[in-house]
Amino acid sequence: MAEPTPAQAAAVLRRGGLVAFPTETVYGLGADAASVQAVQKLYAVKRRPADHPVIVHLADAGAAFAWARELPQAARKLAARFWPGPLTLILKRSALAQDFVTGGQDTVGLRVPSHPVAQQLLKEFGNGVAAPSANRFGEVSATTAAHVRDDLGDDVELVLEGGASEVGIESTIVDLSAGNPVLLRPGHLSREELELALGASIAERTGAAPRHPGGLERHYAPRTPASLVPTHELDSHIAQMKKVAVLAFSRPDERVDYWLRMPRDPKAYAQKLYAALRELDSAGCERILVEAPPGAAEWEAVHDRLKRACR
Ligand code: TXA
Ligand code: MG
Repeated sequence: MAEPTPAQAAAVLRRGGLVAFPTETVYGLGADAASVQAVQKLYAVKRRPADHPVIVHLADAGAAFAWARELPQAARKLAARFWPGPLTLILKRSALAQDFVTGGQDTVGLRVPSHPVAQQLLKEFGNGVAAPSANRFGEVSATTAAHVRDDLGDDVELVLEGGASEVGIESTIVDLSAGNPVLLRPGHLSREELELALGASIAERTGAAPRHPGGLERHYAPRTPASLVPTHELDSHIAQMKKVAVLAFSRPDERVDYWLRMPRDPKAYAQKLYAALRELDSAGCERILVEAPPGAAEWEAVHDRLKRACR
């Protein structure tokens, strides 16, 4: 059977259906962002609480900014430098961004993805596509079309194929809705790169920041209990377990049932992370042990995801 095309996917969106599509970060589960019925269906399939906002995806910055009522200089700068790309901006919403997309907040999350298939879909559709990651709420995000089918099955009408996501973790989110820029979710674009483009510093998220499920303690989590273990404790943890799966930098240990080696480069590590967690999760072990990566700033996004995947 021929693969479905972006034009077919756009037609599904137009009649209120759900489609999954590749982006450079992770796969998204898309719905027409202007249709309350479509977005409600999206939340039902995702099993996501209705008060959680969803990111709206558009083909270019011009189309995206129509969803915002105020355009700070910082938004122009970041968009000019990083869109299309793995960056989401939180801005004060325009009338296009209705409560069912923003979770009732006065702000909206906007992103212009660079993946060519996402671009084709968004151009073809010609309007905003609301899209969370194409996995069930709280679970490990999907970075291939096969992951999406495994997770969502018949709940998604159509899945566009686009290979393994190049970035592998969700977009960097910067909140520009309240004066000073705030980093809500670290990602592939480092704080340093963002600050350089802005010519200003970016604040840490505080308790007062808007609701966002990426901020829930347990998120991006496999079903098998996982723990983050410092390198020097890996050995003693392994010795205590009957059946264990390990995600590590070093070479396999023969006592271990399932061992995946990860790259020492943080961007390469992020690209492989979710597929690796899924693979270890399906190994049927009592626990997943994750060797803690270095503490350096360039590992911030990976640490953020691992902290939430591990209990
Ligand atoms: O890379 C990505 O961002 C992927 C792809 C598909 O674009 N999408 C994604 O969506 O990760 P989701 O829904 O899994 O995570 C979106 C995050 C959530 O933490 C959500 O709360 C936050 O963005 N968000 C969306 N709109 C927001 C807003 N108005 N204020 C604060 N956070 C917002
Ligand atoms: Mg998600």
